[in-house]
Parts: sequence; C-alpha cells; structure tokens
Amino acid sequence: MLPQAELHVHLEGTAPPELIARIAARNGIALPDGLLSVDGRFHFRDFLHFLRTYDLAASVIRTSEDYRDITYEYLSGIARAGAIYAELTASPDHAALVGLDDEQHYGGIAAGIDAARREHGIEARILVSAVRNFGADQAVRVAARAAQRPHPYIVGFSLAGDERVPPSDFASAYAIAADAGLGCTIHAGEWQGPVSVRDALRLPVSRLDHGVRASEDPALVHELAARGITLNVCPTSNLALGVYRSLSEHPLAHLHAAGVRVTLGSDDPPYFGATLAGEYALCAEQFGWSEQQLRALTAAAIDAAFCEERLKVVLRERLHAQ
Ligand code: HPA
Ligand code: ZN
Repeated sequence: MLPQAELHVHLEGTAPPELIARIAARNGIALPDGLLSVDGRFHFRDFLHFLRTYDLAASVIRTSEDYRDITYEYLSGIARAGAIYAELTASPDHAALVGLDDEQHYGGIAAGIDAARREHGIEARILVSAVRNFGADQAVRVAARAAQRPHPYIVGFSLAGDERVPPSDFASAYAIAADAGLGCTIHAGEWQGPVSVRDALRLPVSRLDHGVRASEDPALVHELAARGITLNVCPTSNLALGVYRSLSEHPLAHLHAAGVRVTLGSDDPPYFGATLAGEYALCAEQFGWSEQQLRALTAAAIDAAFCEERLKVVLRERLHAQ
C-alpha cells in the first residue's frame, strides 16, 4: 500500500449517499427531492447542477456530531487504503446555513480528526473555504473569522464554488488570510481557462485547486513551474464533470513533465466515483508512472501542505518508512 496524501477534498463532498441518508434520518429530516438518482447515487448533469446537489446534501448535515462522523468516516476509509495526511476543505458558509457556528463546526471536524488519528494513525488539517458565488464581501467575513484561528487545526484558506466569479474579486479576502499566516489556495483553471489561472496567480497563493487548464498556455505552464506553484489535480473529477472527455486528453502528465508540481486529490469522492488511492492507481495505469513517481506525488503534497513544519518531518519519515 503506497503512502498517499491529499490537499484537495471538500468535506461535505466526502459523505456518500448512505451516510447522508443516515444523518438525515438521525436529524428527523427527509432526503431532499432531486438529491439522488434512481440508482441511488448523487444526481447531477453538469458542474452547476453538481454544486446545487452538493448544497442539497449539505443541507441535511446539521450538527457538530454530523461533521465529526463525516470527517471520521472519510479519514478512516482513506487511512485504510494507505493515506497518511489530508487537508480537508471546510465550508463555514454551509455550516452557517444549518445554524452551526464556527466552534460547533470546527469542533466536530476536529473531533473526527482526533478519532481517526487515534484509531488509524492518519493526520489531517482544515482549510477554511469561502464560496465564490456568495460574493466577495462574504468571503472577506469568512477570511476574517479564519484569521482569528477559531481552531488550531485551521491551516489555510481557499475558495470554491462557481468559477465564473473571477479570483481578482477576492483580493481583500486573500490579503486578510495571508496576513494572518494562513496558507492560500484557490479553485482556478477547471471551468475557466488560462486567464482565470493568471488572475489567481495575482493572489498570495502557493497552490491551485485543479489549475489544469493552464496547460492551454505554454508560457503560463512555464510560470507555474518557475514559481513552484503546486496544482492539486483531480483527474476523476475532471472526467466526471466533463472538463476532459478522456484520460488521454487529460494534461496531468504534460504538466508534470513540464516541471509543474502536482499532487492528487479526490475532490468530492462519491459524487465522481473517485478515491484517493484510485487517483494514484490511475496515474500508474494511464501514464505508466512508477512507484517512485507515485511516492513523489505524496512528497509533493507534504511539501505543499500548510501544516506546521514539525508535522511535515513526521510525514516524510512515514513516507520513507512505508
Ligand atoms: N468545485 C468547486 N466548488 C466545490 C466543489 C468542487 O469540486 N465541491 C464543493 N464545492
Ligand atoms: Zn474542488
């Protein structure tokens, strides 16, 4: 089992339909209409519909214990498949919509992280994400709250949601997060092309979530490599949402060969039929990457992680020992 690490996974998006159903039942609420298709999987046609389905699933997650359970279940599952570290993208806006404050939200997630560490040895930290389509002012409020470090596991700031809202709108939010010492990443170059990546690179970010469409602009690929920006790439997500029609069209291997730092993520695993270990296996099968090259992906994730240096040392030791 190869040691893996991931930096790009949305917490609500890790809960499979069965867990969402269990949580809804426990909270005494019916599953929202349109959430699942007849085959029992999450139902969506395209990216914007996916975001709406995601919001529907998130709407039944109501308590601190729900967040604990989702976190614990996800981390235990990937730990059993070899993962040693994950940065979980949390969305305080989704939590607020169901009436949870930061303490309840992050407290639940942290309890899940602690239990998974105790029982499975995996480590995890939290990225606080704002939602683009909730607007720049709300992102500033989310960043300002994150900057107060409502929980010690919070290590970074990110931006998810509808990519049509440009990164430059969020310069103030990113300035607040970066000034507070939070690591910064942003979704870009998934639905929008190279222009969105260039725009994102004006923010104080060291990583991009997806970023794959930078591959359409050779000068930009060069800039990513030269600046040491890490792309957190999710090939199965890209295929499921139709960013690329097939893996043979996917630019991951090209970006990697051009010297861009890359890591693998599962994004929203049950929605896309992805698993972290599966993303590694896909690179071995599709691109012929060796075990050494796959291990280098984990090393790149540890290098780009926003956790404290002391933990990185421990993770590198684990990577080399296993
Ligand atoms: N992309 C953008 N926003 C999101 C996602 C995603 O995969 N999941 C939840 N919010
Ligand atoms: Zn994502």
